[in-house]
Amino acid sequence: MNTPGTVKGFTDIFHPQSALYSFMEDTARRVFGAYGFEELRLPVLEFTELFRRGIGCETDIVQKEMYTFPDRKGRSLTMRPEATAGTIRAYLESGMYGRGTVNRLYTCGPMFRYERPQAGRMRQFHQINCECLGAGNVQTDAEVLLMLASFLHELGLEGLRTELNTLGCRVCRPGYKEKLSEFLHGLDPDALCPDCRRRIENNPLRVLDCKVPACRAQTEDAPAVRDHVCAACAGHFEKLLGILGKEKLRVVLNPRLVRGLDYYMRTTFEIVSENIGAQGSVAGGGRYDGLTSLLGGPEIPGIGFACGMERLALALAQAPDERERRSFAPRPDFYFAVLDAECADGALHAAQILRTAELSGIVDFGEGKLGSKLRQASRAKAEYCLIFGATELAGGKVIIKNMDEGSQVSISLATLADWAEIRFEHKREIGRKGGCR
Ligand code: HAM
Repeated sequence: MNTPGTVKGFTDIFHPQSALYSFMEDTARRVFGAYGFEELRLPVLEFTELFRRGIGCETDIVQKEMYTFPDRKGRSLTMRPEATAGTIRAYLESGMYGRGTVNRLYTCGPMFRYERPQAGRMRQFHQINCECLGAGNVQTDAEVLLMLASFLHELGLEGLRTELNTLGCRVCRPGYKEKLSEFLHGLDPDALCPDCRRRIENNPLRVLDCKVPACRAQTEDAPAVRDHVCAACAGHFEKLLGILGKEKLRVVLNPRLVRGLDYYMRTTFEIVSENIGAQGSVAGGGRYDGLTSLLGGPEIPGIGFACGMERLALALAQAPDERERRSFAPRPDFYFAVLDAECADGALHAAQILRTAELSGIVDFGEGKLGSKLRQASRAKAEYCLIFGATELAGGKVIIKNMDEGSQVSISLATLADWAEIRFEHKREIGRKGGCR
């Protein structure tokens, strides 16, 4: 074979992984829908300017991780590295905000960052991203966090750590930044990694979340932003902690949680899994009240988060029983095994009858031996194998084999619709969803 191959950090997602992705998206739709969120589908390409203004020119994402190129007319385009900036652009351009209501938008899809690929870190990865726009109250922060917790719970993920911090606001952060800079300039630069030496000058907060042990040791006694925020930000954070406590959402305060995008203020959070390696953050987000004006609109408060689907999938792989129980990859109801070529038309027609009754399955039209067809049915995890050869065709019958029990019956094709109806009713009673693999 001589195919061109895939680009480093990009990958194909086959079944059953693709079924897992659908399961995550379906769960998101259901849970977020219950909180009034509506789906938005965004373009993958945006003008580079959007991310430079939105995410911030000094961030790692904008400085080193974007897929940026000129189009045929020389305009600089970027494959979206995240969905918040695009969501705000769409929200502002659509004029939704003019209606003076709160808008709740979610989007799912691929994002692109030129990072060093490793487990849980891809160059094309997928996010489920939520934004709540138009509400600056602390109850919204709490509700967004509770919704995220509920989504993760519905996926079957338990034991994740919710880390929380406040980053202050435009009033108090400059003063904190100054204090932090003073502290950082007092450190021995040779004991810091090259990235941190650069960050001290252009993005001092990011020094706090550097993972290099020597840098962490050096910044152990760095001033914590929470101790330097204004009264309004302190009140917002205290109130949030109070509500979350009442709602029984356990959080861990992490003064080093500064996030890698410049638009955050006040509440910031990450959900961390201990079981998926170095890239443990399965979701991250926070409040970003200044972002709409940075992107050319009026001042509108906003808060949101994004979950990384590759990392959620890794975390779910650690909980296989839960995955099985929630059957995110449903079994097909039938595998229709054609044994002789002249039976193919009849099989196609009969399978349409089954699907009309909302059963799902595969027709294997190719001629073949019964043994190999049964093996295929079993590999497809079908509940029933319908066996249809020249003898059955001549007698107007079809054999139905229960693949779990091994029993089989021969029924008249004329009664196939009734059989399908009974199967469907049974499925509904036990609440099982069908699906082809
Ligand atoms: P972020 O922390 O950059 O935030 O990304 C959110 C999540 O996307 C991460 O927690 C991680 O699970 C996943 N992720 C990020 N990069 C990669 C990668 N290279 N490979 C695999 N997964 C990755 C944002 O993107 C913000 N826009 C979130 C947000 C929404 N804040 C407010 N609203």
